[in-house]
Amino acid sequence: MAAKPDYSRLIATEPSCRNRRVPSRSSFTALVGCELPLQLAVLGGVGTPALAAAVADAGGLGMMPGGSPDDVDRFIAQARGATRGRIGVGFLMPFVSRDAVAVAGREADVVEFFYGDPDADLVSIARKAGAGIVSWQTGSAEEAAAAVRAGCDFVVVQGTEAGGHVRGKQRLDEILRETLRAVDVPVVAASGIGTVERTAELLAAGAGAVRVGTRFLAASECDAHPRYVEP
Ligand SMILES: Cc1cc2nc3c(=O)[nH]c(=O)nc-3n(C[C@H](O)[C@H](O)[C@H](O)COP(=O)(O)O)c2cc1C
Repeated sequence: MAAKPDYSRLIATEPSCRNRRVPSRSSFTALVGCELPLQLAVLGGVGTPALAAAVADAGGLGMMPGGSPDDVDRFIAQARGATRGRIGVGFLMPFVSRDAVAVAGREADVVEFFYGDPDADLVSIARKAGAGIVSWQTGSAEEAAAAVRAGCDFVVVQGTEAGGHVRGKQRLDEILRETLRAVDVPVVAASGIGTVERTAELLAAGAGAVRVGTRFLAASECDAHPRYVEP
């Protein structure tokens, strides 16, 4: 495997941001049991168990895209073989296999859903299988409140700056502000985040963690095509 980038250093000591260190404890780290307020975004098609393991090993929450029950089982086993950190699986709706959700509930630390209305039945499948933590990536404060009513333990808010499927219709700062008023669970901020400075800003604004996708496409563990990663 390629040498592992030092994500802790990236987050904690990026040169332009040395004077704005990020607090390492938050509502999110307390809930998830990790050391950094950082969630790797679910990266459909390019996310790998190795990338999830690298982020988890550095203290964040490593996420992998869900698939068939066998895929989920294999991905989690591969990631677990490479780290003792916290690992999650994210399902993109409507392509959700209930059996795969059950496998993730049994084997992952976090089960997450995105791109559909919060659904208490899906949350319950994950919970009954043993999931300790269930989350939903959301595109509005209303959707975040619905996710909490459906039984989620934390929510991710996605602004319009995000890469991949975009559910949000507001910029991140606005949706974060509204969501923090609407729910009382940890709120993870996602979209357009790539520096410690921005991370510090969002944590100071009340986010429990940041979720980073595009910035990790350049990691050697990611399966993104080299042309996609070129500046
Ligand atoms: C290549 C790519 C694929 C993505 N695939 C998924 C996915 O399958 N499921 C999901 O929940 N989010 C997916 N996302 C969105 C991320 O969860 C997250 O909202 C986004 O990456 C945050 O913005 P950023 O890319 O600017 O960091 C994807 C993002 C990218 C860049």
